[in-house]
Amino acid sequence: MEGSEKILWVSNEGTEYYRNRAADVSAFKSAKIDAIRKFHSTIPAYKPTPLRSLPRLASLLGVGAIYVKDESHRFGLNSFKGLGASYAIANYLAERLGMDISELPYDVLTSGAIKERLGDVTFTTTSDGNHGRAVAWTARMLGQKAVIYMPKGTSKHRSEAIAALGARVTVRDVNYDESVRLTAREAREKGWVIVQDTAMPGYEDIPLWIMQGYAVMAHEAVEEMRGVGIDRPTHVFIQAGVGALAGMVQAYMSANFEETPPRVLIVEANKADCFYRSALAGDGKPHIVTGDLDTIMAGLGCGEPSPIAFGILRDHSSAFVSCPDYVTARGMRILGRPMGGDPSICSGESGAVTAGLLSFIMQRDYLSDLRKSTQLGSDSVVLLFSTEGDTDPDRYRSIVWDGEFPTFEPV
Ligand SMILES: Cc1ncc(COP(=O)(O)O)c(C=O)c1O
Repeated sequence: MEGSEKILWVSNEGTEYYRNRAADVSAFKSAKIDAIRKFHSTIPAYKPTPLRSLPRLASLLGVGAIYVKDESHRFGLNSFKGLGASYAIANYLAERLGMDISELPYDVLTSGAIKERLGDVTFTTTSDGNHGRAVAWTARMLGQKAVIYMPKGTSKHRSEAIAALGARVTVRDVNYDESVRLTAREAREKGWVIVQDTAMPGYEDIPLWIMQGYAVMAHEAVEEMRGVGIDRPTHVFIQAGVGALAGMVQAYMSANFEETPPRVLIVEANKADCFYRSALAGDGKPHIVTGDLDTIMAGLGCGEPSPIAFGILRDHSSAFVSCPDYVTARGMRILGRPMGGDPSICSGESGAVTAGLLSFIMQRDYLSDLRKSTQLGSDSVVLLFSTEGDTDPDRYRSIVWDGEFPTFEPV
């Protein structure tokens, strides 16, 4: 299906889903996420990623403050995804061993004694790059194997980064969602462990654990904001592929700011805007997008919502926005070459779309209704997540240096 050249949006605030906010978010209470961070902090490469403040950009755009969580620094993997794979795999192994995750800090988990008890295990997933790299990285830490499948159109840089971690990598000639199904079938035949970020019928534990692992990112961001005297953001923009990341951010915000939850805007690539289309249909059911899903936002190129994320976003999110590729290209340039005095952030195609979108919402008349409906203005404290760095360095330079995907002004 073709995407639009325009930024399209739909507000969710008038719906019965949003009024009732029925979806359960209790798995994302901060006490629970704190315990998960205890596990992460035993991994030698763990440290909180920086939260950058961009006061000059905020003043130019007419909002109170802009904070960007820079996940290019996560575990040396150039994206946030290691948080999910490491926790989900560790928790899976804890269950298999009849232990609690608190008994399996990194040095125990990676010990010869545990390897001997487990024997050889093969982990598998479908990924557009970042999640596969995170699964391969975790498997290597454990001395185990990883088999990673990637959808057609995958960049060479992304597949090579995964192979460099010792995983077997295969690029399939099908789109992301089809590859997820093929991987699940093959894993069942071969006795491999599926580490997929999207839930399937009868397969919900690992996807939930991945989301809970990701939640350490939101937990750190809120703590870092508190460290500079800000109790909470008023607005959070979060990008969605299958929605595990966005579902986590939304659930974390709703679970931990019950009285005054920040407004959360869900941001998608227009070639794979399944949450936007579902909200537009308004029947409460997921609507899928098929075809090649050929967006430069590779991590967002998923046409089928994860069922766990779907209910959370339908019931709690403020608005759904569908963005053409030029929106993220502008975001990459804004973050990479900021206003004087603001820090520079290297943000890749799936990382920068929210920064690009914020700039368009605040600077374009044709989006003034979205600005008003979400009450973005001079009192707003906006939190964004730059979820990856230059995971495809050739494309990054082509956009930021050479101006590929220039800003397009719809008439
Ligand atoms: C950098 C980046 N950002 C955002 C996402 C979207 O995450 P999700 O598929 O959970 O919606 C991905 C997914 O691969 C990603 O790699």
